[in-house]
Amino acid sequence: MRSTVAIINKSNLNHNLEILRKMAPAAGVIGIVKANAYGHGMNECARILQDSGIEFLAVAYPEEGVELRNAGIQCPIIVLVPAELSSAQLFIDYALQPSIGDFEICSTLEIIAKKAGKTIQAHLFLDTAMYRDGILPNQATALMNHASQFTSLNINGICTHFSTSDDPDESITQEQIHLFNETIIDLSKNGFNFKYIHAANSAAAVRFKQSQFNLIRPGLALYGYSPYSTIDLKPVLSLKSHVRTIYQVPEGSFIGYSKKFKTNRDSKIAVVPIGYGDGFFYSQNGRAECLIRGNKLPIVGAICMDQCFVDITETETEINDEVVIIGQQSDQKISAKDIAERIGTIPYEVLTNISARVQRLVED
Ligand SMILES: Cc1ncc(COP(=O)(O)O)c(C=O)c1O
Repeated sequence: MRSTVAIINKSNLNHNLEILRKMAPAAGVIGIVKANAYGHGMNECARILQDSGIEFLAVAYPEEGVELRNAGIQCPIIVLVPAELSSAQLFIDYALQPSIGDFEICSTLEIIAKKAGKTIQAHLFLDTAMYRDGILPNQATALMNHASQFTSLNINGICTHFSTSDDPDESITQEQIHLFNETIIDLSKNGFNFKYIHAANSAAAVRFKQSQFNLIRPGLALYGYSPYSTIDLKPVLSLKSHVRTIYQVPEGSFIGYSKKFKTNRDSKIAVVPIGYGDGFFYSQNGRAECLIRGNKLPIVGAICMDQCFVDITETETEINDEVVIIGQQSDQKISAKDIAERIGTIPYEVLTNISARVQRLVED
């Protein structure tokens, strides 16, 4: 097996779930496992969360739900990106719960569900700020009136999504919560009530108690990163490799592609089999670091597609030593957030970019 692996720490995932449950004691949890569980391995994480009794899982696209069902996941699965006509059949065939964002999809789902002799459970997605997902609140009653003529489509959930819940300025989130509540009241006056009400992503679940309703919908926090405050979360993923080979390099030599690094002393350079093809961003060139034997060491030269170089001149590094790219070694740590800060992105992107060729290994 290739030595470059992502270790998924099952106890930390369960720990984060417990922390979130304690923060929202009246709510169930929808575990977001879209985009390969933020790079952590969708099937692996879904299985852990299912075994821990999570109420729902959520993905972005029905195809992700199909993959989960094919992997034997039986937990209810919500598909967050509002359903499109072209994939309507998948919701019926794989018992996936769509988000409803327009009128037309309702009739299509009804026809397909009826033909299959099944009932489809769905969630009305209200767009309360982003202009991205769902219908605008002023159309909600009309949509529910339209859907109420159907017998095989049961819209028993209602949800929205926050655009700025991690922003120090709370005003937009507060307005969204207000609008969401008002719409739910309006719908209720028109006879439409919902069993499931959900809105809170990680930051909202942590910061706005009144956003928790009866289900919270965290992604990043489950994986150990808090998008806002410093609650006691534990990173779930470590990205590790090993020292493949070591070169003694004379002073004044170029390392790797494009003359990006020239030794200014006689040096020892370790080659490590991880590169941008694994999701280790090229744009970190000149700033990336790793851990070897508890030392934080510079990655030098251009990161290649499959490999990179570490300056180990001042260390006792040996071939096969463990190299930590994300994670902890002795008392040193590198997080996905550190990498994100190096290159001006967000930890979501760093984690979701860990590519498919990196094997995910679950450890207790
Ligand atoms: C609709 C929806 N809900 C919940 C989440 C989870 O957000 P976070 O990872 O910030 O908790 C996302 C993430 O993109 C989302 O798109």
